[in-house]
Amino acid sequence: MAIGGVGAGGGAGSGEGQGRSVLVTGGAGFIGTHTVLQLLEKGYAVTAVDNFHNSVPEALDRVRHIVGPALSARLQFIFGDLTIKDDLEKVFAAKRYDAVIHFAGLKAVAESVAHPEMYNRNNIVGTVNLYDVMKKHGCNKLVFSSSATVYGQPEKVPCFEDSPLKALNPYGRTKLYLEEMLRDYQHANPEWRTILLRYFNPIGAHESGDIGEDPKGVPNNLLPYIQQVAVGRRPELNVYGYDYRTRDGTAVRDYIHVVDLADGHIAALEKLFATPDIGCVAYNLGTGRGTTVLEMVSAFEKAYGKENPGEDVPEEAGRFGAGVRVHRQGRRGARLEGQVRDRGDVQGPVELGQEEPVRLLRRR
Ligand SMILES: NC(=O)c1ccc[n+]([C@@H]2O[C@H](COP(=O)([O-])OP(=O)(O)OC[C@H]3O[C@@H](n4cnc5c(N)ncnc54)[C@H](O)[C@@H]3O)[C@@H](O)[C@H]2O)c1
Repeated sequence: MAIGGVGAGGGAGSGEGQGRSVLVTGGAGFIGTHTVLQLLEKGYAVTAVDNFHNSVPEALDRVRHIVGPALSARLQFIFGDLTIKDDLEKVFAAKRYDAVIHFAGLKAVAESVAHPEMYNRNNIVGTVNLYDVMKKHGCNKLVFSSSATVYGQPEKVPCFEDSPLKALNPYGRTKLYLEEMLRDYQHANPEWRTILLRYFNPIGAHESGDIGEDPKGVPNNLLPYIQQVAVGRRPELNVYGYDYRTRDGTAVRDYIHVVDLADGHIAALEKLFATPDIGCVAYNLGTGRGTTVLEMVSAFEKAYGKENPGEDVPEEAGRFGAGVRVHRQGRRGARLEGQVRDRGDVQGPVELGQEEPVRLLRRR
């Protein structure tokens, strides 16, 4: 599961990236901001490009605030849309980049089913443009955000990088196609070094609580949904399906902390710099451990309860305690509802640009 042979360790300002310049597409997004922050702390000069389709300018302001003025002077932001080639030309005209980490993309499965053309245009055209402009400007090192969705509904878990690949929806097909495309491009241009990172389910946030996942619209992932219910932004969470063959019947996912995921990107980058003949290679970024929906709700409750021992637990909370209730609805569903009254150091939406942040902690 981990990227072998490279260390992602090192503290703030440890300087591995000194003198190197990295372009981060989608740098204002959830995973992008955490990676930008860690790149800066490692001594890289970073340019982030984003069109704010699913993020806000304040996200990068908060990164600047966290790293302080000296490191923040090494961060440049350029507003741009990858589907517009001229935008990318401007980005590459501004500076020479040693490598690109490519996060920019749309990622909501249900939206991709409703609007497949939007996903093809954004994810595929955006990446084709990026590749063309990188090639034109002699930048040939790329870390690409793929997804564990390329394993489809795996017959065996955990999935390894050589497990069979199969996309089950238009979003997954964009990732699978882009993996194949980047493999073909590298084959035709052997000097290219490409790492495809297949993420499982990123969650959590930087320990400051100032950045994190704050999706626009209805969250597509479980944890932000639980968080939004907990802080009262949404009334309830429907848990669909109690008949999976799992410990408690609810769906299992492999959740990885976003700070660990960002570490994984730095490890990938360092591996690219250190390995001239790497070609195009895929790595999983996950923990190899599964968590059910109800276990996630319960873990959230415990984290909250621990940080806020004075919280009074409503009777209906049942075994889930601390202000979040789950209602089973027959065999096929359950509802979770509730409120977290005290916004302490619990996992919750950071509400970028909206309200007082609810802080998210990294578990060590
Ligand atoms: N979060 C997950 O669960 C997950 C899992 C697997 C893979 N991924 C992949 O990781 C990448 C980053 O995910 P994230 O969770 O940070 O998502 P995110 O939506 O928070 O970040 C993506 C960023 O890219 C920007 N963007 C989108 N299209 C763009 C375009 N055409 N031009 C410029 N900017 C554009 C968005 O505004 C956003 O800031 C995505 O490619 C996603 O498919 C995410």
